[in-house]
Amino acid sequence: MKHFLAISDFSPAELQNLLDRAVRLKDERQKGGNPPLLKGKVLGMIFQKPSLRTRVSFDMAMRHFDGDALYLSPQEIGLGKRESVADVARVLSGYVDGLMARVFDHAHVLDLAKWSSIPVINGLSDYNHPCQGMADALTIQEKFGNLKGLNVSFVGDGNNVAVSLMHICAKLGANFTIASPEGYDLNSKAVEAAKEFASTSGGKLSFLRDPHSAVKDAHVIYTDTWTSMGQEEESARREKVFPPYQVNAQLVSEARPEAIVMHCLPAHRGQEITDEVADGPHSALFPQAHNRLHAQKAILLHVFGIG
Ligand code: CP
Ligand code: NVA
Repeated sequence: MKHFLAISDFSPAELQNLLDRAVRLKDERQKGGNPPLLKGKVLGMIFQKPSLRTRVSFDMAMRHFDGDALYLSPQEIGLGKRESVADVARVLSGYVDGLMARVFDHAHVLDLAKWSSIPVINGLSDYNHPCQGMADALTIQEKFGNLKGLNVSFVGDGNNVAVSLMHICAKLGANFTIASPEGYDLNSKAVEAAKEFASTSGGKLSFLRDPHSAVKDAHVIYTDTWTSMGQEEESARREKVFPPYQVNAQLVSEARPEAIVMHCLPAHRGQEITDEVADGPHSALFPQAHNRLHAQKAILLHVFGIG
Protein backbone atom coordinates (compact mmCIF):
# COMPACT_ATOMS: atom_id res chain seq x y z
CA MET A 1 0.00 0.00 0.00
CA LYS A 2 1.47 3.34 -1.04
CA HIS A 3 0.62 6.22 1.29
CA PHE A 4 1.93 9.79 1.29
CA LEU A 5 2.21 10.78 4.93
CA ALA A 6 5.57 12.49 5.40
CA ILE A 7 8.55 13.71 3.35
CA SER A 8 10.73 11.71 5.76
CA ASP A 9 9.27 8.42 4.44
CA PHE A 10 10.88 8.94 1.01
CA SER A 11 14.45 8.72 -0.24
CA PRO A 12 16.06 11.71 -1.99
CA ALA A 13 15.82 9.85 -5.32
CA GLU A 14 12.10 9.12 -4.81
CA LEU A 15 11.42 12.76 -3.93
CA GLN A 16 13.36 13.98 -6.96
CA ASN A 17 11.44 11.55 -9.18
CA LEU A 18 8.15 12.91 -7.85
CA LEU A 19 9.31 16.47 -8.52
CA ASP A 20 10.48 15.62 -12.03
CA ARG A 21 7.15 13.98 -12.73
CA ALA A 22 5.34 17.07 -11.42
CA VAL A 23 7.35 19.18 -13.90
CA ARG A 24 6.29 16.90 -16.77
CA LEU A 25 2.64 16.87 -15.66
CA LYS A 26 2.61 20.67 -15.42
CA ASP A 27 4.07 20.99 -18.90
CA GLU A 28 1.59 18.44 -20.27
CA ARG A 29 -1.33 20.29 -18.66
CA GLN A 30 -0.16 23.60 -20.11
CA LYS A 31 0.20 22.04 -23.58
CA GLY A 32 -3.39 20.79 -23.66
CA GLY A 33 -4.14 18.42 -20.80
CA ASN A 34 -3.22 15.32 -18.85
CA PRO A 35 -4.35 11.85 -19.99
CA PRO A 36 -7.24 10.11 -18.17
CA LEU A 37 -4.91 8.13 -15.90
CA LEU A 38 -7.34 8.04 -12.94
CA LYS A 39 -10.54 7.42 -14.88
CA GLY A 40 -13.16 5.93 -12.59
CA LYS A 41 -11.15 6.60 -9.43
CA VAL A 42 -12.60 8.69 -6.58
CA LEU A 43 -10.55 10.43 -3.89
CA GLY A 44 -12.35 10.88 -0.56
CA MET A 45 -11.21 14.13 1.06
CA ILE A 46 -11.64 14.28 4.84
CA PHE A 47 -11.31 17.80 6.24
CA GLN A 48 -11.26 18.53 9.97
CA LYS A 49 -10.08 22.09 9.23
CA PRO A 50 -10.80 24.71 6.56
CA SER A 51 -8.94 24.76 3.24
CA LEU A 52 -8.83 26.59 -0.07
CA ARG A 53 -5.69 25.34 -1.81
CA THR A 54 -5.63 21.72 -0.63
CA ARG A 55 -9.29 21.14 -1.29
CA VAL A 56 -9.50 22.75 -4.72
CA SER A 57 -6.13 21.56 -6.02
CA PHE A 58 -6.81 17.91 -5.13
CA ASP A 59 -10.31 18.10 -6.58
CA MET A 60 -9.02 19.63 -9.83
CA ALA A 61 -6.08 17.23 -10.03
CA MET A 62 -8.51 14.30 -9.91
CA ARG A 63 -10.72 15.92 -12.58
CA HIS A 64 -7.73 16.55 -14.87
CA PHE A 65 -7.04 12.79 -14.78
CA ASP A 66 -10.75 12.02 -15.43
CA GLY A 67 -11.22 10.95 -11.82
CA ASP A 68 -13.44 12.48 -9.17
CA ALA A 69 -13.19 13.74 -5.61
CA LEU A 70 -15.62 13.73 -2.73
CA TYR A 71 -15.42 16.44 -0.05
CA LEU A 72 -16.24 15.24 3.46
CA SER A 73 -16.67 18.12 5.89
CA PRO A 74 -15.79 18.12 9.61
CA GLN A 75 -19.52 18.04 10.45
CA GLU A 76 -20.20 14.99 8.30
CA ILE A 77 -17.42 12.74 9.54
CA GLY A 78 -16.67 13.81 13.11
CA LEU A 79 -13.37 11.91 12.82
CA GLY A 80 -12.53 10.33 16.18
CA LYS A 81 -15.65 11.87 17.76
CA ARG A 82 -18.81 10.69 16.02
CA GLU A 83 -16.95 7.57 14.97
CA SER A 84 -13.50 6.10 15.60
CA VAL A 85 -10.73 6.75 13.08
CA ALA A 86 -10.32 2.99 12.57
CA ASP A 87 -14.01 2.57 11.71
CA VAL A 88 -14.06 5.58 9.36
CA ALA A 89 -10.99 4.17 7.55
CA ARG A 90 -12.52 0.74 7.12
CA VAL A 91 -15.91 2.04 5.97
CA LEU A 92 -14.48 4.48 3.44
CA SER A 93 -12.12 1.81 2.09
CA GLY A 94 -15.19 0.07 0.65
CA TYR A 95 -16.56 3.21 -1.05
CA VAL A 96 -13.70 5.27 -2.48
CA ASP A 97 -10.32 4.46 -4.05
CA GLY A 98 -8.06 6.75 -2.02
CA LEU A 99 -8.20 9.15 0.90
CA MET A 100 -6.76 12.59 1.52
CA ALA A 101 -7.10 13.79 5.10
CA ARG A 102 -6.50 17.10 6.85
CA VAL A 103 -6.52 16.49 10.60
CA PHE A 104 -5.70 18.10 13.90
CA ASP A 105 -3.84 15.21 15.50
CA HIS A 106 -1.09 13.66 13.37
CA ALA A 107 -1.87 10.28 15.00
CA HIS A 108 -5.22 10.36 13.19
CA VAL A 109 -3.64 10.41 9.73
CA LEU A 110 -1.33 7.56 10.79
CA ASP A 111 -4.36 5.63 12.07
CA LEU A 112 -6.25 6.20 8.83
CA ALA A 113 -3.28 4.74 6.96
CA LYS A 114 -3.06 1.83 9.39
CA TRP A 115 -6.72 0.84 9.13
CA SER A 116 -7.59 1.61 5.52
CA SER A 117 -7.06 -0.76 2.63
CA ILE A 118 -6.68 2.16 0.20
CA PRO A 119 -3.90 4.79 -0.14
CA VAL A 120 -3.91 7.72 2.29
CA ILE A 121 -2.45 11.18 1.62
CA ASN A 122 -1.70 13.60 4.47
CA GLY A 123 -3.26 16.95 3.60
CA LEU A 124 -1.84 18.64 6.75
CA SER A 125 -1.69 17.67 10.39
CA ASP A 126 -0.52 19.48 13.51
CA TYR A 127 2.92 17.92 12.82
CA ASN A 128 3.59 18.32 9.10
CA HIS A 129 2.31 19.33 5.65
CA PRO A 130 4.12 17.11 3.13
CA CYS A 131 2.03 18.07 0.07
CA GLN A 132 3.01 21.68 0.74
CA GLY A 133 6.65 20.62 1.04
CA MET A 134 6.52 19.05 -2.42
CA ALA A 135 4.97 22.15 -4.01
CA ASP A 136 7.55 24.30 -2.22
CA ALA A 137 10.45 22.23 -3.56
CA LEU A 138 8.92 22.36 -7.06
CA THR A 139 8.71 26.16 -6.83
CA ILE A 140 12.31 26.49 -5.61
CA GLN A 141 13.52 24.09 -8.30
CA GLU A 142 11.73 26.08 -11.02
CA LYS A 143 13.50 29.26 -9.94
CA PHE A 144 17.00 27.94 -9.17
CA GLY A 145 17.34 24.63 -11.09
CA ASN A 146 17.60 22.34 -8.08
CA LEU A 147 17.76 22.54 -4.29
CA LYS A 148 21.32 21.41 -3.70
CA GLY A 149 23.43 24.07 -1.99
CA LEU A 150 20.65 26.68 -1.86
CA ASN A 151 20.05 28.66 1.34
CA VAL A 152 16.42 28.33 2.43
CA SER A 153 15.48 30.45 5.46
CA PHE A 154 12.22 30.04 7.34
CA VAL A 155 11.28 33.00 9.51
CA GLY A 156 8.63 32.49 12.20
CA ASP A 157 6.86 29.65 13.99
CA GLY A 158 8.49 26.19 13.94
CA ASN A 159 5.23 24.68 12.69
CA ASN A 160 3.89 21.89 10.45
CA VAL A 161 4.88 23.69 7.23
CA ALA A 162 8.40 24.31 8.57
CA VAL A 163 8.83 20.59 9.41
CA SER A 164 8.08 19.46 5.85
CA LEU A 165 10.18 22.24 4.34
CA MET A 166 13.12 21.36 6.61
CA HIS A 167 12.83 17.69 5.67
CA ILE A 168 12.72 18.21 1.93
CA CYS A 169 15.65 20.66 2.14
CA ALA A 170 17.66 18.21 4.24
CA LYS A 171 16.81 15.31 1.91
CA LEU A 172 17.75 17.22 -1.25
CA GLY A 173 20.87 18.97 0.03
CA ALA A 174 19.64 22.54 0.57
CA ASN A 175 20.89 24.49 3.60
CA PHE A 176 17.88 25.06 5.86
CA THR A 177 17.89 27.83 8.44
CA ILE A 178 15.06 28.75 10.77
CA ALA A 179 14.75 31.82 12.97
CA SER A 180 12.02 31.35 15.55
CA PRO A 181 11.34 32.90 18.95
CA GLU A 182 12.10 30.93 22.09
CA GLY A 183 9.22 28.55 22.86
CA TYR A 184 8.27 28.23 19.18
CA ASP A 185 11.00 25.87 18.05
CA LEU A 186 10.62 23.02 15.59
CA ASN A 187 9.57 19.60 16.88
CA SER A 188 12.74 18.05 18.31
CA LYS A 189 12.18 14.61 16.76
CA ALA A 190 11.73 16.23 13.36
CA VAL A 191 15.01 18.09 13.91
CA GLU A 192 16.85 14.86 14.83
CA ALA A 193 15.56 13.21 11.65
CA ALA A 194 16.57 16.25 9.58
CA LYS A 195 20.13 16.06 10.95
CA GLU A 196 20.38 12.50 9.72
CA PHE A 197 19.04 13.41 6.25
CA ALA A 198 21.38 16.41 6.02
CA SER A 199 24.41 14.32 6.96
CA THR A 200 23.68 12.14 3.91
CA SER A 201 22.84 14.95 1.48
CA GLY A 202 25.50 17.44 2.58
CA GLY A 203 22.88 20.08 3.50
CA LYS A 204 23.43 22.28 6.54
CA LEU A 205 20.91 23.06 9.28
CA SER A 206 20.89 26.20 11.43
CA PHE A 207 18.54 27.03 14.28
CA LEU A 208 18.62 30.73 15.15
CA ARG A 209 16.64 33.34 17.03
CA ASP A 210 17.60 36.37 14.93
CA PRO A 211 15.67 36.74 11.63
CA HIS A 212 18.29 39.14 10.23
CA SER A 213 21.10 36.60 10.61
CA ALA A 214 18.81 33.91 9.18
CA VAL A 215 18.10 35.69 5.88
CA LYS A 216 21.68 36.73 5.20
CA ASP A 217 22.69 35.15 1.87
CA ALA A 218 19.27 33.44 1.56
CA HIS A 219 18.00 32.33 -1.84
CA VAL A 220 14.57 31.69 -0.30
CA ILE A 221 12.81 33.46 2.56
CA TYR A 222 9.79 31.50 3.77
CA THR A 223 7.17 32.49 6.30
CA ASP A 224 3.80 31.25 7.52
CA THR A 225 1.06 32.31 9.90
CA TRP A 226 2.00 33.00 13.53
CA THR A 227 -1.09 31.08 14.68
CA SER A 228 -1.88 27.79 12.99
CA MET A 229 -5.33 26.23 12.78
CA GLY A 230 -6.18 24.76 16.16
CA GLN A 231 -4.07 27.30 18.11
CA GLU A 232 -6.57 30.16 17.93
CA GLU A 233 -6.76 30.59 21.71
CA GLU A 234 -3.01 31.42 21.71
CA SER A 235 -3.24 34.11 19.05
CA ALA A 236 -3.14 37.15 21.40
CA ARG A 237 0.08 35.87 23.01
CA ARG A 238 1.61 35.00 19.66
CA GLU A 239 0.81 38.45 18.26
CA LYS A 240 2.96 39.93 21.03
CA VAL A 241 5.93 37.59 20.42
CA PHE A 242 6.16 37.40 16.63
CA PRO A 243 6.27 40.99 15.25
CA PRO A 244 10.12 41.02 15.07
CA TYR A 245 9.74 38.04 12.69
CA GLN A 246 7.67 39.92 10.10
CA VAL A 247 8.90 39.45 6.53
CA ASN A 248 8.95 43.05 5.29
CA ALA A 249 10.89 44.96 2.63
CA GLN A 250 13.78 45.66 5.01
CA LEU A 251 14.25 41.97 5.83
CA VAL A 252 14.00 40.96 2.16
CA SER A 253 16.66 43.55 1.25
CA GLU A 254 19.05 41.69 3.58
CA ALA A 255 18.83 38.46 1.52
CA ARG A 256 20.43 37.77 -1.86
CA PRO A 257 19.23 40.14 -4.60
CA GLU A 258 17.66 37.24 -6.54
CA ALA A 259 15.91 35.82 -3.43
CA ILE A 260 12.31 34.66 -3.64
CA VAL A 261 9.77 35.02 -0.85
CA MET A 262 7.47 32.09 -0.18
CA HIS A 263 4.38 31.54 1.99
CA CYS A 264 2.11 28.50 1.96
CA LEU A 265 -0.95 30.80 2.36
CA PRO A 266 -3.38 31.84 3.73
CA ALA A 267 -1.38 35.00 4.53
CA HIS A 268 -2.15 37.39 7.33
CA ARG A 269 -1.02 40.54 5.58
CA GLY A 270 0.41 43.08 8.00
CA GLN A 271 1.41 40.31 10.41
CA GLU A 272 3.92 37.71 9.17
CA ILE A 273 4.20 39.36 5.74
CA THR A 274 3.58 42.87 4.43
CA ASP A 275 1.54 43.67 1.32
CA GLU A 276 4.65 45.25 -0.17
CA VAL A 277 6.51 41.92 0.00
CA ALA A 278 3.57 39.64 -0.80
CA ASP A 279 2.81 41.65 -3.94
CA GLY A 280 6.38 42.74 -4.67
CA PRO A 281 9.04 41.61 -7.17
CA HIS A 282 10.50 38.86 -4.94
CA SER A 283 7.14 37.22 -4.23
CA ALA A 284 6.64 33.61 -5.38
CA LEU A 285 3.36 33.23 -3.48
CA PHE A 286 0.98 32.57 -6.37
CA PRO A 287 3.21 30.33 -8.54
CA GLN A 288 3.84 28.44 -5.29
CA ALA A 289 0.10 28.06 -4.62
CA HIS A 290 -0.48 26.94 -8.23
CA ASN A 291 2.27 24.34 -7.91
CA ARG A 292 0.17 22.52 -5.31
CA LEU A 293 -1.89 21.24 -8.26
CA HIS A 294 1.09 19.88 -10.18
CA ALA A 295 2.99 18.44 -7.20
CA GLN A 296 -0.14 16.66 -6.01
CA LYS A 297 -0.75 15.15 -9.41
CA ALA A 298 2.61 13.39 -9.07
CA ILE A 299 1.65 12.30 -5.54
CA LEU A 300 -1.71 10.95 -6.73
CA LEU A 301 -0.13 8.91 -9.53
CA HIS A 302 2.41 7.57 -7.05
CA VAL A 303 -0.14 6.41 -4.46
CA PHE A 304 -2.45 4.96 -7.11
CA GLY A 305 0.52 3.05 -8.52
CA ILE A 306 0.36 4.60 -12.00
CA GLY A 307 3.64 4.52 -13.91
N1 CP B 1 -1.43 26.06 2.00
C1 CP B 1 -2.55 25.38 2.25
O1 CP B 1 -2.53 24.20 2.62
O2 CP B 1 -3.69 26.09 2.07
P1 CP B 1 -5.17 25.65 2.48
O3 CP B 1 -5.21 25.65 3.99
O4 CP B 1 -6.08 26.70 1.91
O5 CP B 1 -5.45 24.28 1.93
N1 NVA C 1 0.61 26.39 9.58
C1 NVA C 1 -0.68 26.64 8.96
C2 NVA C 1 -0.67 26.19 7.55
C3 NVA C 1 -1.96 26.40 6.81
C4 NVA C 1 -1.93 25.86 5.40
C5 NVA C 1 -1.76 25.94 9.77
O1 NVA C 1 -1.56 24.80 10.17
O2 NVA C 1 -2.80 26.55 9.99
